[in-house]
Amino acid sequence: MIHTPVCDLLQIRHPVMLGGMAGNTSVPLVAAVSNAGGLGTLGIARTPAEQIPKDIGAIREATKHPFGVNFLLFLGGRGPAIDAALTARPPVFSAAWARTDQDLKSLFGRAHDAGSKVMYMVGTVPEALRAKAAGADVIVAQGTEGGGHVGWMASMTVLPMIVDAVGSTPVVAAGGIADGRGLAAALALGAQGALLGTRFLATRESPLHPNFKQAVLDSDGHDTVLTEIPDVARDNVWPGAMARALRNEFIERWAGREWELRARQPEAAAALQKAQESGDAKNASLLIGQDAGLIRDIPPAGELVERIVAEAEAVLKGRLPKLLR
Ligand SMILES: Cc1cc2nc3c(=O)[nH]c(=O)nc-3n(C[C@H](O)[C@H](O)[C@H](O)COP(=O)(O)O)c2cc1C
Repeated sequence: MIHTPVCDLLQIRHPVMLGGMAGNTSVPLVAAVSNAGGLGTLGIARTPAEQIPKDIGAIREATKHPFGVNFLLFLGGRGPAIDAALTARPPVFSAAWARTDQDLKSLFGRAHDAGSKVMYMVGTVPEALRAKAAGADVIVAQGTEGGGHVGWMASMTVLPMIVDAVGSTPVVAAGGIADGRGLAAALALGAQGALLGTRFLATRESPLHPNFKQAVLDSDGHDTVLTEIPDVARDNVWPGAMARALRNEFIERWAGREWELRARQPEAAAALQKAQESGDAKNASLLIGQDAGLIRDIPPAGELVERIVAEAEAVLKGRLPKLLR
């Protein structure tokens, strides 16, 4: 069995984590991952404050194991939501994408006072050092291969750079990992575990529309692109992030014409909303990583956690030792 210090720190059996994807995670998905021994995380970046205690209560009903909740810190007006989350004392408080002027130290201190461990996701070495200085317990090093909002550095380089930079603080790898080979590679690069987003979108418990799950399976991984188009269409600017999305008709329509998209934003937002709701995979914004090219089925999330750790163990115990003379 693969066991790393982060398993002890977070009190989980397997070093496999669900990315807290706002709007793309659900209580059943979080519980399935945690019940399988991984760390389920609910993305609550946009969840109304009054709903948060209910969601956390529902997770506690569905699993006795640790779980996390995730915030996108740059979003304004989320003070009451963060208060609500911390009052519910989640085992893990996970966050990403702070603005440069935000005070991480006091926020992480409040999370610690609530009894939560703090996980913070970064895509650069300076951000990792900032999170360490603010007292993060775990740093998630996210590579540009990943789905959703990402930076520019690939996991293969940014992960070991962050591991070297933060010393004793545990690092978890994210971006481009969809199977046990990816977990084994992340461990080899110095990570203590892996956090997966895109892979968990295509699971039974994932709240995604069935057409969108199928789009993940249909993607060959070459058809994603880093783009601002989904954020421009939603009039939602992120601090220094692009989104990795499936290059579908929605993206093709606006690529190179972001200026026009800005002018026609309300109309584009309405069309996007309709496509999201109706499961129109050609005209929706589908944030997925390059690792979609590795995803071929829609298993139960718990089974997936078990499969990933078994595959990683087979690589570490079976294939790699045979390479040594
Ligand atoms: C649809 C989608 C939504 C996401 N939303 C969030 C979010 O709300 N907060 C966050 O910290 N990360 C978010 N992420 C990033 C994931 O936490 C993770 O870093 C990424 O999915 C890892 O790459 P992978 O998709 O290749 O596994 C999102 C990713 C996806 C695919």
